[in-house]
Amino acid sequence: MEFVEANGARIPLLGLGTWDLRGRTCARIVEQALRLGYRHIDTAEMYDNEREVGEGLRASGVPRNDVFVVTKVWPSHFMPRDLLRAAKESTVKLRLSEVDLLLLHWPNPRIPLSETLGALCKVKEAGLARHIGVSNFTVALIEEATRLSSEPLVCNQIELHPFIDQSKVRAACATHGMAVVAYCPIARGNAKNNALLARIGQQHGKSAAQVSLRFLVQQQIAAIPRTSKLERLTENAAIFDFELSANEMAEIDALSHGDGRIVDYAFSGAPKWD
Ligand SMILES: NC(=O)c1ccc[n+]([C@@H]2O[C@H](COP(=O)([O-])OP(=O)(O)OC[C@H]3O[C@@H](n4cnc5c(N)ncnc54)[C@H](OP(=O)(O)O)[C@@H]3O)[C@@H](O)[C@H]2O)c1
Repeated sequence: MEFVEANGARIPLLGLGTWDLRGRTCARIVEQALRLGYRHIDTAEMYDNEREVGEGLRASGVPRNDVFVVTKVWPSHFMPRDLLRAAKESTVKLRLSEVDLLLLHWPNPRIPLSETLGALCKVKEAGLARHIGVSNFTVALIEEATRLSSEPLVCNQIELHPFIDQSKVRAACATHGMAVVAYCPIARGNAKNNALLARIGQQHGKSAAQVSLRFLVQQQIAAIPRTSKLERLTENAAIFDFELSANEMAEIDALSHGDGRIVDYAFSGAPKWD
């Protein structure tokens, strides 16, 4: 496994997304992923599957310290007391003494960021999270958060795949030494329908989805693809044995555009900006 280092954290470049994985399927996919060599699991309070993620982790037999477990606090729990309680509940559900990384899932403009970050830092100081970070933060919010936080923020988890331009947010993360973690790294499966990704893949004996993932990890961006299918776990992990040329990287880069977003903030369920 390769890693990206950021503000003291060592984040495995390939992770398993678990949104929408439930019950036995979730536990089984997590267990298998770890057996296949995945070392980074992404869950969230909101996914309602932390219990099953913990079960899969224990069933895999992989030592706890070899796995980077990430969870997220939902914005309705950003008041300090709620955040501390939510973090504790996540560790209880996962049956872990601490998670490796705890993220603010989406910004919440109704609660002062200073208070939320203060609580997030306390969670870290209390030993419930080894590292802390954010998700879906804009450039302005990254600036504000890094200024306000007494502990280093190690990443911003954002929507990122070949069809979306996130260059400004990526630059802000780089300025502050934060890693970028890409969610929807295969564009919710749409990468497989793209002719350019398929053509480049053919030249390397790889699928379009693998090219989409390789494009990210080759730039030191961690990617957390989700699948409910065992055979795709293997496919999505086989991205470290080939390299895209500078020309291929540039061709893929040109697929991105301003309105390439799949996950709409308005539909996320998070409180809307006023
Ligand atoms: N922080 C946030 O706000 C946020 C938002 C969204 C997601 N996330 C995290 O990021 C993870 C990944 O994002 P995502 O689940 O939205 O999208 P994704 O990983 O880009 O795509 C998942 C979809 O692609 C399909 N798929 C997986 N591997 C494939 C392959 N090799 N070829 C073709 N299709 C494939 C899956 O179907 P099958 O199951 O049939 O394989 C599934 O429908 C989530 O699970 C979650 O952990 C975070």
